[in-house]
Amino acid sequence: MIKEEVCNRPIGVFDSGVGGLTVAREIMRQLPNERIVYFGDTARVPYGSKSQETITKFSKQIVRFLQTQGVKAIVVACNSVSACALDELEKDVDIPIVDVVRPGAKTAIGATKNGRIGVIATEATVGSGIYSRYIKNNSPDATVLSKACPLLVPLVEEGLWEDPVTDEIAGRYLAGLIDVGIDTLILGCTHYPIIRSTIGRIMGDGVALVNPAYETARELKELLQEKGLESRHRPGLGTGTELYKFFVSDAADKFQMFANSILTYGILSAKVINIDEY
Ligand code: DGL
Repeated sequence: MIKEEVCNRPIGVFDSGVGGLTVAREIMRQLPNERIVYFGDTARVPYGSKSQETITKFSKQIVRFLQTQGVKAIVVACNSVSACALDELEKDVDIPIVDVVRPGAKTAIGATKNGRIGVIATEATVGSGIYSRYIKNNSPDATVLSKACPLLVPLVEEGLWEDPVTDEIAGRYLAGLIDVGIDTLILGCTHYPIIRSTIGRIMGDGVALVNPAYETARELKELLQEKGLESRHRPGLGTGTELYKFFVSDAADKFQMFANSILTYGILSAKVINIDEY
C-alpha cells in the first residue's frame, strides 16, 4: 500500500515553453485531484531545431529540477524531447514517465479511416522518424506523411495565434499535405493545438486533427491508478499545498500572460529559476 504522502506529491510536466500547457490543461481537466509542477524552458525555446545531444542535456536538467520538487511522475509534454531523449531520461529516474508521441500515434491509428495519416512537428521530431515508426509498427498498412514546421513554435511563443503571418506560414507548410488523401493529421508538437483553428481552416473539414494531449492525460490516469499513486483528495485552499506551480527559465511575465489565455485556471505566478544549476 503506497503511503498517502507519496500519492499527494505533484506531477511534473515540462516543455520548452508554453506548448506543454496544452497537455497540462488536459491533465487538470481529467485529473482534478492532482497537483502539477510545470516547467517551461523559455530561455532556450525552441528545442525542435536543436540537436539530439542538446535536447537530451536540457531535458535531463529539467528532470533533475522536477525531482527537487518531489514529483511522483513526469509527463514529457514535448514531442521533441519524447522523440529524442525519452530513453535517456528513463535511465535516470525510477518514477513513471509518460510521453506524448505514443499516445498521439495511437489516437491517430484509431481515428483514420483510410490509413493515410499526416504528421506536423518540429525538425527534431520529424527527423527522428518516431511517429512513422510507431504507426507502421502498430498498423503496417498505414501511410505516414510528415512535414517539419520550424517557424510555428516561435510564432506561438510570440503570441501570434490569430495573425495573417501565422496563416501565411502555416499555409506554406501545409500545402504539401492538402489533396494527398490524408484524413487525419497529428499535431505532433504541443505548441500546435494553440493554433488549431488556423491549421483546421487550412486543412478543411475532411481532415481530423489529433491533439495527443487527451490520450496522454488518459494514459497518465491509468498509470497512476495501476501503481496506486493517484491522489484521492483535491488539496483545499489555504492548506499550504498549492495545486499548480509554474517555473520558467526566463521572461516569467510573458509566460504568465500567455498561460492565462491557455489555461482556464488563472495562474497566480510563474517563478524564474536558473536551470543551468541542475
Ligand atoms: N512543444 C515542443 C514539442 O512538442 C517543443 C517545440 C520547440 O521548442 O521547438 O515538440
